[in-house]
Amino acid sequence: MTESSRSCLAIVLAAGEGTRMRSARPKVLHEVAGRTMLEHVLDAVTRAGADRLAVVVGPDHGAIADLVAARAPHAQVFVQEVRRGTAHAVLCARAALEAGADDVIVAYADTPLVEPDTFARLRAPLAAGAAVSVLGFEAADPTGYGRLVRAGEALVAIREEKDASPQERAIGLCNAGLMALSGARALALLDAVGCDNAKGEFYLTDAVEIAHGRGLPVAIVTAPEEEVQGVNDRVQLARAERTVQARLRRRAMAGGATLVDPDSVTLSHDTVLGRDVVVEPSCVFRPGVVVEEGATIHAFSYLEGCRVGPRTSVGPYARLRPGADLAAGAKVGNFVEVKNARVGEGAKIPHLSYVGDAEIGARANLGAGTITCNYDGFLKYRTSVGEGAFVGSNSALVAPVRIGAGAYVGSGSVVTQDVPDDALALGRGRQAVKEGWASRFRAQQSERKKSGGG
Ligand code: UD1
Ligand code: MG
Repeated sequence: MTESSRSCLAIVLAAGEGTRMRSARPKVLHEVAGRTMLEHVLDAVTRAGADRLAVVVGPDHGAIADLVAARAPHAQVFVQEVRRGTAHAVLCARAALEAGADDVIVAYADTPLVEPDTFARLRAPLAAGAAVSVLGFEAADPTGYGRLVRAGEALVAIREEKDASPQERAIGLCNAGLMALSGARALALLDAVGCDNAKGEFYLTDAVEIAHGRGLPVAIVTAPEEEVQGVNDRVQLARAERTVQARLRRRAMAGGATLVDPDSVTLSHDTVLGRDVVVEPSCVFRPGVVVEEGATIHAFSYLEGCRVGPRTSVGPYARLRPGADLAAGAKVGNFVEVKNARVGEGAKIPHLSYVGDAEIGARANLGAGTITCNYDGFLKYRTSVGEGAFVGSNSALVAPVRIGAGAYVGSGSVVTQDVPDDALALGRGRQAVKEGWASRFRAQQSERKKSGGG
């Protein structure tokens, strides 16, 4: 049976107290690359073939259950009322284990960087007959980790730091915490775990020694330390972010995007940059951004939940908010904000504008300072600008309003009524010119000042 045809239950431990985060939010709901740590893990195990998910939460973690209900509604949530160790936490999902699976993956929600491929590698020995498969790594500093104790090549036990002998403490190969167990064996192994150890906890890691004692094969799979780093505080959160960003930037560049100064660009877990996209320094991509082939994102732009069509130009200093949708060849220039608006092919909004809840036709041009007034304090209204229309600088388009195709709006207009196709709309005061007024004014005022007038 191949991995893909084997059923797989993933049990994700999310009961960590996270007190060192000093946060109102549970630790595993903190974000890395624009997505909660818990979602990273749920996504990775799912990609590694887990077809059932169980999340074990602590007693006060309704917020985690809410997130699971919203983002992974098929996952079962189990509560660990009292923290009694990792094996105990896994057994809180007993009902899920009893339902049966070929493979069981145990993952920690505070270890968010493990790649789907690593989970798949961890599962692989089970298909070949292993009862337990352990993820190990060579620790730069092994302090605090469980050590992988081997006899020859065979893994015989995992010894927790507090229970380890000096010789065992000298071992550099450590337990990342993640484990895969044969579904047929998992319950029998876990039920045999006791709590006779330095912490008085039920250790998941004891499953290894128990399996070995029963003559069952145990496998070790390794991963780089960087990938299995856990997050307990804000410094480690920042380190995880850095690791993920480096990974995302490498992928973006491997996919054919140019990042002029990669370290200055912040990406999200789902950022899509097409071929020949150029991203200048200091741009931020929040979740939900797709940038298509040949587009240029100039420096200091901030994008979220938007589609940037092929060969478009964005920024510098542009902000694209959710629902911005730029068609091919469109230009959104400096100090322009676009929200929930479609900007048609070749349309231009070059400078200093706010365009929200709008439809901008192909090849339309919005002059500097054009503002859509889309909100009256209660409701939002739409603006539509027809194909090839030209809106003069510093115009306010008071929605709901429609500017017809090919129409002109005079600079400085406040447009409150629809403008027909090909018409000119002027919504501003008429200019008055008074010849000689300025010199008369100066003469009169300097006279008043001399005679002490105020
Ligand atoms: C664990 C491993 C250790 C490994 C290390 C890697 C055990 C006994 N030890 O140690 O070998 O090197 O992780 O980081 O498994 N949890 C619960 N309920 C509990 C206890 C823990 O949900 O009752 C969760 C925690 O929230 C955390 C994870 O399980 O996400 C690991 O628990 P933690 O206390 O951090 O274990 P370590 O001592 O770090
Ligand atoms: Mg830990």
